[in-house]
Amino acid sequence: MPRDTVDTAGRVVVLASGSGSNLQALLDTAESSWSVVGVVSDQPEAGALQRASRAQVPSRVVEWRDHSDRNDFTEAICAAAEEFAPDFIVLAGFMRVLGPSAMAHFPDRIINLHPSLLPAFPGAHGVRDALAYGAKVTGVTIHFVDEHLDHGPIIAQEAVEVLAGDDEAALHGRIQEIEHRLLPEVVTKLVKGELAIRGRTVKGRVSA
Ligand code: GAR
Repeated sequence: MPRDTVDTAGRVVVLASGSGSNLQALLDTAESSWSVVGVVSDQPEAGALQRASRAQVPSRVVEWRDHSDRNDFTEAICAAAEEFAPDFIVLAGFMRVLGPSAMAHFPDRIINLHPSLLPAFPGAHGVRDALAYGAKVTGVTIHFVDEHLDHGPIIAQEAVEVLAGDDEAALHGRIQEIEHRLLPEVVTKLVKGELAIRGRTVKGRVSA
């Protein structure tokens, strides 16, 4: 990967499957130390792709159904991301699990956004599962990706209260307000080299 093409600005590639509101938060962040240089999606109809196009950021689609297994899919996703020579990969609503080879391509350089306070409610339905469980507090987690689902060292977390009468949309809406602020903050720290992994602990404070 031509890392020497990076001058002062960090090159961030976003993987997204959905509407891309978190991608938008990153696109809208005026931060001189990094920019979103590419978007990769597994969903050809993802709103995230339209947001990338509007921002004149190039994108690639890699569909799950075109690949024989998780490893093959992961290799194709990594190849698409590598076209943009990324310094960091941000999973922002990317709803596929990447195989271990992704960590070999981008060691300690992939982060994931998850709508719960991990390790509670991992998986594809973090908001729904917290509501169904009757949790009084849930929230947002941003963590480094490792080979296990929603498991790697935690960079930042913020709590969100579950209110009486909340449905999934209402609770997710308040969670996303936090996500849209926290994710760009974390990316800035990451790009500036202000986060260090020590076992399961990440050193370097991200303000609440
Ligand atoms: C975000 O809320 C993110 O936390 C969640 O998907 C949403 C994507 O929204 N991610 C997961 O559930 C990962 N397991 P967006 O497409 O509007 O950014």
